[in-house]
Amino acid sequence: MEPGTGGDVVLVAEGLAKRYGDREVVSDVSFRLRRGEVFGFLGPNGAGKTTTIRMLVGLVRPTRGRVLIEGFDVRRRFEDALRHVGCIVETPDLYRFLTGRENLEHFARMLGDGAEGRIDSLAALVRMEGRLDEPVGTYSLGMRQRIGIAQALLGDPTVLLLDEPANGLDPAGIREMRELIRHLAEERGLAVFVSSHLLSEVERTCDRVAIVHRGKTLAEGSLDELTGGGARSLEELFLERTGGETV
Ligand SMILES: Nc1ncnc2c1ncn2[C@@H]1O[C@H](COP(=O)(O)OP(=O)(O)O)[C@@H](O)[C@H]1O
Ligand SMILES: [Mg+2]
Repeated sequence: MEPGTGGDVVLVAEGLAKRYGDREVVSDVSFRLRRGEVFGFLGPNGAGKTTTIRMLVGLVRPTRGRVLIEGFDVRRRFEDALRHVGCIVETPDLYRFLTGRENLEHFARMLGDGAEGRIDSLAALVRMEGRLDEPVGTYSLGMRQRIGIAQALLGDPTVLLLDEPANGLDPAGIREMRELIRHLAEERGLAVFVSSHLLSEVERTCDRVAIVHRGKTLAEGSLDELTGGGARSLEELFLERTGGETV
């Protein structure tokens, strides 16, 4: 355990940067994710959200900065760190010709550690128990997202990272996703990190927020702190911090 990362803080991102060729697509991203909260990573398309998530889980190596998960440095202690994380980057990786259950069984076997025994309760949690034996190719996007979340939870993580989970969903699907995310944080104590370019969705779903713009985090705090107890909207804050650009 590294100093200053214990207790409530489950993930620390410190000064993350990523350069591709001569272009720095992420230049300074820092935030802390706490147990039991829904944390919104809010920024427009191209701000560097997906690249940041890839760095958080070691899919992309940062040019600078570091990530600690449950106190373990992702670069130096990859397995110890990633054991605590479930993640969906962009869209869930599922085999479309296999059923939901077969997909979950496949990933559970790779994980070992009793994961297979969690399949039915996770399917119920994401409200997919009735459709589990149908091929993933017949599922709606919302259903694929929910099976993806069940898959991400198979390893019993303390941190769940979701990249734009509302993208492409209809209003009912967005509401279901929001309720599931809130449930995971409030009832299961997970730290849920949600990236989004949808300001109103972040306002509805998240406890705390970081604003990311052109590869930099510009503000981090609770919705209450950032809006001055409701004195201004998150949109006004966003406009102020980004010099007039909207999400
Ligand atoms: N592998 C890559 N090589 C070069 N540029 C990339 C790569 N991945 C992402 N980018 C660029 O980095 C910027 C940020 O992308 P991304 O992290 O996907 O943003 P967001 O998820 O916030 O929309 C974009 O301009 C994108 O084109
Ligand atoms: Mg993205």
